[in-house]
Amino acid sequence: MSERVIIFDTTLRDGEQSPGASMNTGEKLRLAIQLEKLGVDIIEAGFPAASEGDLDAVSQIAGKLKKTVIAALARTSREDIDQAWLAVKHAVKPRIHTFIATSDIHLEYKLKMSRDEVVEAAIEAVKYAKSFTNDIEFSAEDGSRSDRDYLCRVFEAAIEAGATTVNLPDTVGYAIPEDYSELVKYVIEHTPNIHKAVLSVHCHNDLGLATANTLAAIKAGARQAEVTINGIGERAGNTSLEEVVMALNTRPNYIPVSTGINTQYIYPSSRLVSMITGIIVQPNKAIVGANAFAHEAGIHQDGVLKNPMTYEIMKPETIGLSTNRLVLGKHSGRHALRTHLKDLGYDLSDEELNLVFKKFKELADKKKHVVDEDLEVIVTEGILRTKDIFRLEYLHVTAGTTVLPMASVKLSINDRSVQGAGYGNGPIDAVFNSIAKLTGTESELLRFSVSALTGGTDAQGEVTVRLGENGLIALGKGADPDIITAGGKAYINGLNRLEYLKTHPVKEAAVL
Ligand code: KIV
Ligand code: ZN
Repeated sequence: MSERVIIFDTTLRDGEQSPGASMNTGEKLRLAIQLEKLGVDIIEAGFPAASEGDLDAVSQIAGKLKKTVIAALARTSREDIDQAWLAVKHAVKPRIHTFIATSDIHLEYKLKMSRDEVVEAAIEAVKYAKSFTNDIEFSAEDGSRSDRDYLCRVFEAAIEAGATTVNLPDTVGYAIPEDYSELVKYVIEHTPNIHKAVLSVHCHNDLGLATANTLAAIKAGARQAEVTINGIGERAGNTSLEEVVMALNTRPNYIPVSTGINTQYIYPSSRLVSMITGIIVQPNKAIVGANAFAHEAGIHQDGVLKNPMTYEIMKPETIGLSTNRLVLGKHSGRHALRTHLKDLGYDLSDEELNLVFKKFKELADKKKHVVDEDLEVIVTEGILRTKDIFRLEYLHVTAGTTVLPMASVKLSINDRSVQGAGYGNGPIDAVFNSIAKLTGTESELLRFSVSALTGGTDAQGEVTVRLGENGLIALGKGADPDIITAGGKAYINGLNRLEYLKTHPVKEAAVL
């Protein structure tokens, strides 16, 4: 049997550091449950010292999941490690992940510490974390730009102190596959006790090389890959889980290792992350992009019809993207809906299912076929957003070639109904102005984009907005067969997310 590569998913920690990707505790829990179904070995659930919200989310996830290792991130201070332990101590399999930078540039300008002091801090942190649990990961931040021999010295000391995994991050996405692979080999050859720990890699995508670097590192001997769904993460993102897993699956002879991933949950997990974070997957994104399996050229279509292997190196079904996707219509029953939603990552209570079923029937009356994307919208808007401060109750718009665009809007704000009207340059502008007046928001609209969720003129339109206020950035999403209503929903969703961010401040997350 081939050697196993451990899949360490950090969508909930590094992924959440994507601008505007903050998730609330309920969303994080839902995603963690989906990640367990997907079969990741470790979930890095958060950075508890960063905020109370993070601590709460990590401890809820730790209390809920039974199979997966739950990791919490901590700097090397005792306070951080205490918080991390507080969050994961109820997990069946807890891990504390502590880190400190090892590159000279970080030591001189950020930490203002000598190399010896950093080694001491690493040893102290690992020993202290070890007093709580056996499973300790140590990361050498900016490892790829660190002096090789010093890196080996730090790893040796961390392992000696009790680290069971040592991680070599390419924190700034600077590495090139060949060099990174050489570095991994060097570390394996020059860290005397490396056989007592798992060597992990963690890559960022600043040069678009995160997946290539991770694969090169695995080929060179690394046995843990740190990844996120859809590659979301700080700046240009992290290594994407689906790319690494499918590369290993598709080319088993090139890198003869396996993972524990249930690949049929890749696509539903990708959709779930996109729906929760509001970050759209680019259409040409490898594996999970809308065009990843779409053949446009006639010559390709002809080949695929004759034999899919002519132009397809993977089967769409392998990642859970069935070509005969279940299309539900108004005659579909509750049971089919429940089963299908479960596969998409939504395990609903009876009460929630009733609500979704009702909305599904309403949509099926307007639209002949209800597809996965429609269902996701119903669930995220109808169920996951029930605790929002602002809710849209009513929207009426007049617009056209000869009238001034006007909108009248009724909102519920903390369960109290308010209504008002406004005008604008166009119908969307009128809707946004009216909502802004009613909510009294001081946020600024930074971005607005519209797309169709599925093909056809009866498709749902999807609007994404990006709002900013006093340094906080939030994304909002809304979908509806009526694009103006979708815009209103997206704006309200963004405002709710901003409110959430105001009450769940993230402390010092920028240090990472
Ligand atoms: O990119 C990085 O170095 C990190 C560490 C905290 C592992 O995210
Ligand atoms: Zn990172």
